[in-house]
Amino acid sequence: MKVQSLPGFRDFDPERMALRNHILSTWREVALAWGFEEYDGPPLEPLELYIEKSGPEIVEQLFNFTDKGGREVALRPEMTPTIVRMLGGRIKGMPLPVRWFSMPQLFRYEKQQRGRLREHFQLNMDIVGETSVDADADLVCAAFEVLRRLGLTSDDVVARISDRRILRQLLLESGVPENALHVAYNVIDKVERDPRATCIQRLVAIGVDEKSADRILRFAEMSLDDIRREFPESGELRSIAEELDRYFEAITNLGFGEWVRFDMKIVRGLAYYTGIVFEIFDRKGELRAICGGGRYDGLFASLTDSDVPALGFGFGDVVLGELLRDRSLVPKVSSGPDTVVIPVDESVRPAALKLVAALRRQGRRVVFPYGKSGVGKTLKKAASQGIAQAWILGPDELARNEVKVRELSSGEETSRDLSGVLGETSGG
Ligand code: HAM
Repeated sequence: MKVQSLPGFRDFDPERMALRNHILSTWREVALAWGFEEYDGPPLEPLELYIEKSGPEIVEQLFNFTDKGGREVALRPEMTPTIVRMLGGRIKGMPLPVRWFSMPQLFRYEKQQRGRLREHFQLNMDIVGETSVDADADLVCAAFEVLRRLGLTSDDVVARISDRRILRQLLLESGVPENALHVAYNVIDKVERDPRATCIQRLVAIGVDEKSADRILRFAEMSLDDIRREFPESGELRSIAEELDRYFEAITNLGFGEWVRFDMKIVRGLAYYTGIVFEIFDRKGELRAICGGGRYDGLFASLTDSDVPALGFGFGDVVLGELLRDRSLVPKVSSGPDTVVIPVDESVRPAALKLVAALRRQGRRVVFPYGKSGVGKTLKKAASQGIAQAWILGPDELARNEVKVRELSSGEETSRDLSGVLGETSGG
């Protein structure tokens, strides 16, 4: 019987693993450069952690079951509730803001499509205990820096920025009842995918008249200046717009002004966001979102005994990997061996093994033939595996305290002093 892997789950052969490591090591480098500390949590959590606060979209996608102890559990679909649970109990007394990052594998029972699988890795960077928009600006710039270090530019990607507070205010003013706000958010979230008539219909269904429904869809296209012009009397909207000005200015000063644009069509699918939100997309608009996040100032208070402001993002490896492949930005790195040590006959095998051990301690990636094997055959096999160097040890060389080193690409050979090589690491 041939057992296939489950739909939406990936096998990582060495080539795919190299790309995954390339992405994850860049994530870690940038998060550390931004002064974040790494954490992790359990991959399996109590179901209730997600039920109330993540919103219906994620709840429908949960991999959940009853465990053998009768507990309702779920594989983590996102990291935010976990960090809130972990920090909620201990944030009092910690120096603020807390900056934590993690790179969990997450699980969502999604309809499989380009850029969306049932498992993915996600860089999470979160800042807890800070209200200033400088934090929002610093955070999104970390995502840009990841993209920059991987070889992408602002010609390839753009962050679309919005603010839940502005949207909320505009929707309430247009007659959306408070308890139906989530439906209106969802309409705006899907405004680029759904036909206009469907959007209007859904707004009318929650009690908005047709004229206001039309106005709501127009809001989605507005710039910050349009909002200031259209609502000159609203002090609240003006002060949020000023905050956003400061946010964009900080991003420009941090060197990423070209990477952002204001766009009210960005809502974010998750229910807990309360302020500035963003999603990063490829400029051509061919792929799903690469990264998304924002402020979730109320989530600590609703899940824990602490009430602290927070913000963060999730940056997935799937769409990013596709973008890097599309732009030929996947480096050709091999994790395979670079050196083979070949004993010419069995009499020198003990010395050859000592040489293997010494070369490995010097940082080389070394293999040797496990059984009897001819020199010519071993060299041929090594070349076909992309190995760069062969260290060939025969009885004559051993008697002279030497070893032959052959470059497999050119065939060039030199002799090295054997006890010198063995001695380089023997002190350690
Ligand atoms: P999210 O928008 O659900 O946010 O996911 C963030 C990113 O994870 C997406 O932009 C995408 O790159 C990737 N992603 C999500 N689902 C999938 C999937 N099924 N397959 C492949 N990639 C996927 C969150 O998860 C929030 N918890 C982020 C956050 C952290 N907000 C504050 N802190």
